[in-house]
Amino acid sequence: MDGNGRWAKKRLLPRIAGHKKGLDSIGVIIKSAINYNVSTATLYAFSTENWNRPSEEINGLMELFSDAIDSQTDKLITNDIRVRILGDISIFTNKLQSKIKSLIKKTSINKGLNLNIALNYGARSEIIMAVNKASKSKTGALLEKDLTGNLYTKDMPDVDLLIRTGGQKRLSNFLLWQIAYSELYFIDTLWPDFSDKDFIDALYFFQNTERKFGNLKGNI
Ligand code: IPE
Ligand code: MG
Repeated sequence: MDGNGRWAKKRLLPRIAGHKKGLDSIGVIIKSAINYNVSTATLYAFSTENWNRPSEEINGLMELFSDAIDSQTDKLITNDIRVRILGDISIFTNKLQSKIKSLIKKTSINKGLNLNIALNYGARSEIIMAVNKASKSKTGALLEKDLTGNLYTKDMPDVDLLIRTGGQKRLSNFLLWQIAYSELYFIDTLWPDFSDKDFIDALYFFQNTERKFGNLKGNI
């Protein structure tokens, strides 16, 4: 979800105004994901590298996360959405941690959209964490499944489609293990401007892409 800061800058607003507007796009895309039967969606909300931003912006984001939990929990429950977090939340304030944990618990029996929020997430540290956990519980060579079973995404399917808004064509340490065979979709639109129509375009792109997973399908 890239481009919040630039969206705000274009309007001579503080960066946090862009992040706030970005929350509206999240609402639109969640609704659309449910409409189009997407089983799992993951939002990259805060990376391990985002701690390098000015403290004013970080504090603003933490406040936004907290306010969004307060205002959206009921809606998430009514819409049968199950929320899970990818990332290490132990670094957040106790208050925010308990809000997050209670949101996870309250939505844990929901059966509709699986909504993952990547918070204080970085793929490299996730992989290292998984290797350490796996090697503790097993002697001898690790297999792929030992690693996948210890990622934040254990029990979840690999990523089918990755969408990055805001014009940059990079992955920024996002789900590096899980995107090995993902289709990648980059769009210049800034996240606060990302619409239902843009999302549908991305789904069409995915639908019209033949997935090969390394085999010769389609070539013979
Ligand atoms: C991404 O938007 C949102 C978060 C990191 C929460 P940016 O804040 O990176 O926006 P730009 O790239 O400065 O426009
Ligand atoms: Mg950015």
